[in-house]
Amino acid sequence: MNNASLNIENIGIIGSGVIGASWSALFLAAGYAVINYDPDPDNADKTSRYIDQAWGNLEELGMVKSGASPDRIRYVDSPAAATADAQFIQESVPERIDIKHDTFASMEPVLQDGAIVATSSSGLLLKEMQAGWKDPSRFILGHPFNPPHLIPLVELLGNDATADGVLDRAAAIYEGAGKETIRVLKEVPAHVANRLQAALWREAISLVAEGVASVEDVDKAVTAGPGLRWSVMGPHMLFSLGSGGGGIGTFCERFGPSFHTWWESMGDPRLTPEVIAMLKSGIMEEEAGRSFDELAQERDAKLIGAMKAFRKVSSQGK
Ligand SMILES: NC(=O)c1ccc[n+]([C@@H]2O[C@H](COP(=O)([O-])OP(=O)(O)OC[C@H]3O[C@@H](n4cnc5c(N)ncnc54)[C@H](O)[C@@H]3O)[C@@H](O)[C@H]2O)c1
Repeated sequence: MNNASLNIENIGIIGSGVIGASWSALFLAAGYAVINYDPDPDNADKTSRYIDQAWGNLEELGMVKSGASPDRIRYVDSPAAATADAQFIQESVPERIDIKHDTFASMEPVLQDGAIVATSSSGLLLKEMQAGWKDPSRFILGHPFNPPHLIPLVELLGNDATADGVLDRAAAIYEGAGKETIRVLKEVPAHVANRLQAALWREAISLVAEGVASVEDVDKAVTAGPGLRWSVMGPHMLFSLGSGGGGIGTFCERFGPSFHTWWESMGDPRLTPEVIAMLKSGIMEEEAGRSFDELAQERDAKLIGAMKAFRKVSSQGK
């Protein structure tokens, strides 16, 4: 679906920090006009700088649509002003329920008929946030991964209060901007992907705390091993392929008892001062003198390289 058939002209961005600035870059690249609000007096400078830096990567990834421009952004001075002219609004204010509720209360009186509001919240429950609305029927969760202009995943969640068709329409808007969406069917803390990350990190910490492997080697065990496969297929499908042809049922019959034993032996660590000290010293070794900025650049360059390669393979497959 293109932007015109979605009947979206303007996208409102409310809160333009780490996540909101990145959303602004993504929606501009997708060809929308963006109306941006953040109370920071330097917001326009900071967000414009962020967009200028992100634009090169978005171009490199072929994500800048014809007619799109980084200049089609208007900075406004209230959440209401970022809402009134927008057909889709992405809220990314700080992760505090009082700030979310205050923001929704100033948006709701000016919300256009049919406009959708999505919150980026990483951990607040939708039903708690809905209490900030008189009519929460067009307010949903659209949870991104940092940075949203690069990482494709957006987790979508509505509930009994959500109007019919709102999630489908939100999915079309995100997918039209190059994102990949999933539906979270039930409200649980941290949605889906953060729970998966938390489960893996729990065991990664336990392996270090129990002296099974160093921080660096645990990280390498992920990136040089299953992490590479996980960027291509998820754990269920990979294990189905690990069956030798019989499928996931065969895999479960063959390896289920081993997994049961392993699950029973998994750790349940806490981030005590001792454990944090172990992680800090392990990370210092793994950094090997590289600065924070150097490491962040290395991560982004590898990420963009991998995404370009995936795009090439999928376009050849079509
Ligand atoms: N950082 C992440 O990795 C990440 C990932 C996914 C989702 N999120 C979610 O995105 C949301 C924003 O997180 P962030 O990391 O961008 O935070 P952030 O602190 O970087 O940005 C928040 C922005 O909101 C502004 N702000 C403060 N009060 C405001 C108000 N009353 N109205 C409008 N804006 C206000 C701040 O000036 C700041 O620029 C949170 O709900 C968070 O859970 C964060």
